Order: sequence, then structure tokens, then C-alpha cells
Amino acid sequence: MATGVCVVGSLNLDTVFTVAALPAPGETVLGSAPATVPGGKGGNQAVAAARAGAQVCFVGAVGDDDAGALLRRHLTDNGVDTAGLVTVPGPSGAAVITVDTAGQNTIVVVPGANRAVALDAGRDAIAGAQVLLLQLEIPIATAAAAARIARTAGATVIANISPSGGDVTELAGLIDVAVVNETEAAQFDHPVPHRVVTLGANGARYTGADGTVHVPAAVVDAIDTSGAGDVFAGVLAAEWPNGVAHALRAACTAGALATLVPGAGDCAPDATAINEAMEKSHIQ
Ligand code: RIB
Repeated sequence: MATGVCVVGSLNLDTVFTVAALPAPGETVLGSAPATVPGGKGGNQAVAAARAGAQVCFVGAVGDDDAGALLRRHLTDNGVDTAGLVTVPGPSGAAVITVDTAGQNTIVVVPGANRAVALDAGRDAIAGAQVLLLQLEIPIATAAAAARIARTAGATVIANISPSGGDVTELAGLIDVAVVNETEAAQFDHPVPHRVVTLGANGARYTGADGTVHVPAAVVDAIDTSGAGDVFAGVLAAEWPNGVAHALRAACTAGALATLVPGAGDCAPDATAINEAMEKSHIQ
């Protein structure tokens, strides 16, 4: 049965520049003509979960601009229920991403409408989900309020603590699974039942009640790592009810496949591609 996932999070219109090497502070470098694509950690994770086979609803906010219409359409085109997505006056969220020839990236986010995410339109969707998936490009207090609703209803709460650095003390006490990259891991030391540290090409490290295990990733020739962490989180949420070990392997595999496609919002593989890659690399 498809997992019911509710994503409460951000949507951004991403402008992506490709450069030979990421600029150092004070440096000017030449880049390619920019590509404008749907993004935002929340939207990327929702699309990834839906493509992996979950039944996904999205709670968030877009502005009343062209970007907002495009971001909404991207979700609906991917089968994500947008009943909890409101349109507010002002600009949608935006991000500027630079990607180098090794596939590494830097990202600057301007939150726009993501600051206005409220839970009114999405309360039922949150309470009805098996898994609530959060990231922190929306106000942390709103993420914590969503976690409280989900926990009361008996859902599993997965939080991607990204961006990190805010005060997540209240939220940390409400989550079942924290997903962080290595940089974020250094800033997130709250005890949680399940802690997942993504390690890029090296897969992920999981710590739970039975100890710590390393989960390898499929070996790929990455061209763009932006959005790979979002695909990992989305697939982890979609597969979580099918067992932690399986969910981690599927998430690592999907994250690796995502690096083969440029852009963050459209790089998620579907369930068939994930399963085939898991069989091929003998990751089951
Ligand atoms: O994780 C990648 C995402 O981070 C991009 O889509 C960008 O919008 C930012 O949210």
C-alpha cells in the first residue's frame, strides 16, 4: 500500500548557474546561461516521495507571481495533492544555485512566501498522514507546530534539519527521525530515536536503538549534486513504513541516481528506476 506522506515545507524557483569552479569570497567567475527550474527543499522532497510511489500532500505557500503558478503546477504534474498549498501576496521563494564541473554546489535562498507558511489549510492532511516530512526553509515554529499535530495523530515525524543553525530545541523533542548532512550533523546534537547522516557519494550513516550502521550508495558519475539530499529524504519518508534498513538503502540509491540529472526539482527517479538500480548494485 502507498505510504501517506505529508510534506510541510518550502517551494523556490531555482536559478542555476554552471561554473568551472565555485567562486571563492571576493572572486568573480564566468558561468553558463542560467537555467530556471522548480526547487525548494519541501517541493523537491514531495516530488521525490511521490515518484517513489507514496501518496503525497503538500502544505506550504507560494507568492501571487508567475513563479508561484509554475511551482504549484510542478507539484500537481507529479501527482502531489496541493490542497494545503496557499497563495499569498508577494514573491514566491527563490534560490540561486551555482554548480561546478565536479557537480558540487552552493545555494542562496530568499524565502519570500515560505515565511508565510501556515497550517490552517493543511491541518487535516498533516493529521491524516502516516509520515510527516519537514525541512527548515519555513519558520521553525511552524515546523514544530506541524510535528505536534502529526505526533498527536500517531504519525512518524521525519525532519531534514536543513538549513541548520536555528534554534531547533522544541522541534527536536517532537521528531522521530533527523536527517542531516555532515555539516548539519556538527550543529545538530539533540538526541532523537533515529539519526541519519547523509555522506554524499559514501552513502549514509544511521544511528538508532541498536547502534550505528553504514549504508553504501550506488556508484555513479555525478554531474549535479543539488537536490540529491532532498531525494534521499523524500524516498526515506516514502519507504519508512517498509522497514528502516530497506528505506535507507532505497534512499541512498535514489540520492545517487538524482546526481545524474541536472537541477534539484526534477532529478528524482521513479520507483522502477530505484528498484532496478538496487538490484543492479546488489543493494536490497
Ligand atoms: O536542496 C536543494 C534546494 O535547496 C534547491 O532546490 C533550493 O531551492 C534550496 O531550497
